[in-house]
Amino acid sequence: MNDFRPAPNPSIAEAQALHEPGRAHVLVIGNEKGGSGKSTTALHIAVALLGEGRKVATLDLDARQGTLGRYVENRAAYARRKDVDLPMPIHAAVPLSTLSDRNEAQADERARLEAALERVIDSVDFVVIDTPGSDTYLSRLAHTWADTLLTPLNDSFIDLDLLARVDPDTLRIVRPSIYAEAVWKQRQLRAVQGGRPVDWVVMRNRLSSLAARNKRDMSTVIEALAKRIGFRVAAGLSERVIYKELFLNGLTLLDLKRGGKGPSLTLSHVAARQEVRDLVSALNLPRRDADAPSAEPVTEAATPDQQVAE
Ligand SMILES: Nc1ncnc2c1ncn2[C@@H]1O[C@H](COP(=O)(O)OP(=O)(O)OP(=O)(O)O)[C@@H](O)[C@H]1O
Ligand SMILES: [Mg+2]
Repeated sequence: MNDFRPAPNPSIAEAQALHEPGRAHVLVIGNEKGGSGKSTTALHIAVALLGEGRKVATLDLDARQGTLGRYVENRAAYARRKDVDLPMPIHAAVPLSTLSDRNEAQADERARLEAALERVIDSVDFVVIDTPGSDTYLSRLAHTWADTLLTPLNDSFIDLDLLARVDPDTLRIVRPSIYAEAVWKQRQLRAVQGGRPVDWVVMRNRLSSLAARNKRDMSTVIEALAKRIGFRVAAGLSERVIYKELFLNGLTLLDLKRGGKGPSLTLSHVAARQEVRDLVSALNLPRRDADAPSAEPVTEAATPDQQVAE
């Protein structure tokens, strides 16, 4: 930790991410803390991008738990069952190696991840990678591929503990902690490999609707930490039961519509959906351009408001 010298996040200036023509932008959703909303956020962002007519691949690096894979399966099953047209990402899981030798296992996992990426990187606009809530070799490797790293963080000091140690009396940051250090290392590795700098965005998740002291204190510390270790802060998502309810049908807030037979759209859902859209826009992902794989105009069916969940 002694040599921890985080570089400033070059995207703090809110620049639009550069797009390498013909090559997908890689968005890694990462946080070593379990249950922070990575898989939920991954599918919502993937569906939001699909709704904009972009081609999206999703990779599940938490294949043992397989939440994102189950989410996508549930979505396909729902579309079949209800005979509706839901935009689907190209999904693949990258399982852990079963080799017992550590070095061989790591080489195997590297090859698996690279093969999974190579299958899609030239044909889609975005690859969204969901990672496990723990420190694995595969997850660390994925972080070096990130053009954008999105870290959902439950609005709790327990979750923040993986990013920084905080003085309980003054709320001053004592030092960055393990996940911040891991990201810093991956950033360095990426720089050595000649990759573009990663844009690290931290989003607050499960925000309470109450103006509680915890929420305010979290804001203060996260803003200070952002400057110290070099990330941007996105507004994030409120705590809402709907996120739990949508999983079984593989739906997202962006699939809900007024009327219809499926889960109906309430005012609270409209507000939640806006939060998802605001999050996607805060990511400053590369816009559509003439060189992007899906440069054709957005079709009516791919417009989010017209995704029918019946
Ligand atoms: N904004 C939210 N409001 C309410 N519940 C949420 C919200 N975001 C996520 N959840 C719920 O929190 C739980 C954890 O979410 P999720 O599985 O997406 O987290 P994760 O970071 O992928 O977890 P893991 O580290 O285990 O992979 C799930 O039950 C999910 O439905
Ligand atoms: Mg998960």
